[in-house]
Amino acid sequence: MKAIEIIEKKQKNEKLEYKEIEYMVNSYIKNKINDDTMSQFVWAIYNNGLSIEETYFLTDVMIKSGETIDLSSINKPIVDKHSTGGVGDKVTLIVSPIVAAAGVCVPKMSGRGLGLTGGTIDKLESIPGYKLSLSRGSFVEELKKVGCAVISQSEKIAVADKKIYALRNEIGAVDSIPLIASSIMSKKIASGSDIIIIDLKVGKGAFMKTIKDATLLAKTMVKIGAFYNKKVICTLSDMNIPLGRNIGNALEVKEAIDFFKGKYDKRLYELSVYISSLMISTAKKISFSKAKKLVINLLESGHAKNKFYEWIRYQGGDLTKIRDKAKKYIVVSTKSGYINNIDSLKLSQLVFDLGAGRIKKTDKIDYASGVLLNKTIGDRVIKGDILGVIFYNKKVEDMDKIFESCFKIEPKKKRPKKIIIKTIK
Ligand code: URA
Repeated sequence: MKAIEIIEKKQKNEKLEYKEIEYMVNSYIKNKINDDTMSQFVWAIYNNGLSIEETYFLTDVMIKSGETIDLSSINKPIVDKHSTGGVGDKVTLIVSPIVAAAGVCVPKMSGRGLGLTGGTIDKLESIPGYKLSLSRGSFVEELKKVGCAVISQSEKIAVADKKIYALRNEIGAVDSIPLIASSIMSKKIASGSDIIIIDLKVGKGAFMKTIKDATLLAKTMVKIGAFYNKKVICTLSDMNIPLGRNIGNALEVKEAIDFFKGKYDKRLYELSVYISSLMISTAKKISFSKAKKLVINLLESGHAKNKFYEWIRYQGGDLTKIRDKAKKYIVVSTKSGYINNIDSLKLSQLVFDLGAGRIKKTDKIDYASGVLLNKTIGDRVIKGDILGVIFYNKKVEDMDKIFESCFKIEPKKKRPKKIIIKTIK
């Protein structure tokens, strides 16, 4: 087989066979073809797409390039959750203990953030002592004892995806539905759960900008799941405005703690209750409304909060010592009116510039930096009201002006977009 012939075939938009995709991927991870040749292959896919069958072939080859996790010794329903990443997205920190408190196991391998949005692992790293990597045995043991475990993505899972995803990042070819679908699904399927709930973010602060593209990605992932007999459910949620009141690693952990104490942002509450209920109802095979009642009860009774503390303690984290040391800059509004929009992309760029994000995986981040929104979508503000607080260790020029410019304040109130757009099964 010759790489150039396979590339030309895809360039002509002809269908590839399993063994051709397998040849390209395996040759690349064994360094038998170089980055330039693989880039040509990736670009041919980027430009011409892949059929659903070819997308499944690529997913399968990437799964087989690494290890898979066997969760069959766990005698409880199991469900995995994935988010495609958004601004202020701390939903994993909230739903994992809620679902575990309902008697459903949540084995979660998460990534670090690249670019503007922070990953769950970066957020957890702001808790001193929290162990991000566990042996396979300890991971399963924690799932049996606590019910949820969140660790960083194993280097041994979907090895080919790691290399290809890094190449796609470098050449600017991330934004392709079959490539994204196979990348996410290879990791999720190799991680062992039979049910996978995906929170697919849509809008300015997400990498899926339109509902049309997000729907196509969701349908592709659901179909790939079906090849493996896995139940994949995708909820499309709005990411035009930030999720919750805090953006920044330590700040988001603190928002999760507040959430369990009953102090929550309305949209964050709505999405977290929805995703938890979907996970529980699917795993326990009960109605959504019954699962939702259970979720609300677990929150109100304090059981979910206790599970959150149990989980963090079990993984060695000390919540009394969160890495949150930063100076505060209070921003007051220079206008009166209603907040009709908050630019999540611009705000995440500010948080990134404050030091909360990274470009390369090895870059150091400032866990304490970020922003707190004192006012949010739909709120009325009067000139002089506190709009929010900037937490910083390194000042950004005009940060107060940039912060204020993220808020669209108008005389008339507009109805905010709904947080949950639709669910695709
Ligand atoms: N997340 C992934 O894991 N892969 C992609 O290709 C895009 C987002």
